[in-house]
Amino acid sequence: MQLALKRSVVRSWRPSDAESLARHANNRKIWINLRDAFPHPYTLHDARDFIRAIRSRSPETTFAITVDDEAVGSLGFVLHHDVERVSAEIGYWLAEPLWGRGIITEALAAVTEYAIQQHALTRIYAVPFAWNAASCRVLEKAGYVLEARLRHSAVKNGELTDQMQYAFIAADHQAVDIT
Ligand SMILES: CC(C)(COP(=O)(O)OP(=O)(O)OC[C@H]1O[C@@H](n2cnc3c(N)ncnc32)[C@H](O)[C@@H]1OP(=O)(O)O)[C@@H](O)C(=O)NCCC(=O)NCCS
Repeated sequence: MQLALKRSVVRSWRPSDAESLARHANNRKIWINLRDAFPHPYTLHDARDFIRAIRSRSPETTFAITVDDEAVGSLGFVLHHDVERVSAEIGYWLAEPLWGRGIITEALAAVTEYAIQQHALTRIYAVPFAWNAASCRVLEKAGYVLEARLRHSAVKNGELTDQMQYAFIAADHQAVDIT
């Protein structure tokens, strides 16, 4: 998979991305905003394991965000099943030196569209921690709408926190046929 965007290229993870992945992912400011499955510290071994696991999965739902062909972030979605097979949860992170340039907003919008098209989804959602104002803003800019504040729904780093549930509803973004 490859999506050539203005600010980045979103593409399949490659084994050769492991070193840049480990370097950029080894950041407490990233870890503090993600699920505990994301390791900290983040070693080269973790990076290799992650890339191996991602590459063995089908369908492919987690992608590298690259700038000048260097892997500088990750963006992926988890497809739901059974009656929720039209839904997916999306997540992402970007290397700290590149924050503030709109790279993730553009990539999120593109992968949201890709996921909806490829998997006939009607809804994609994300649940950033309430303290994560940057991620909430990114979701809003990419067309997601705040649906709920999930009070006391998660514990991170020993701290009980709320999550903000944002969703992108495909039907809200379809062009209106006026013919
Ligand atoms: C969340 C994250 C991906 C955002 O990356 P980014 O490069 O800053 O994103 P963008 O540049 O596309 O947009 C950031 C927006 O948030 C705003 N923002 C940044 N910090 C903010 C803050 N503390 N309060 C309010 N808004 C903030 C920016 O001003 C910008 O909005 P604007 O374009 O209207 O000015 C990045 O900080 C990250 O990887 N964080 C750690 C992992 C994470 O939180 N992942 C998401 C889990 S749900």
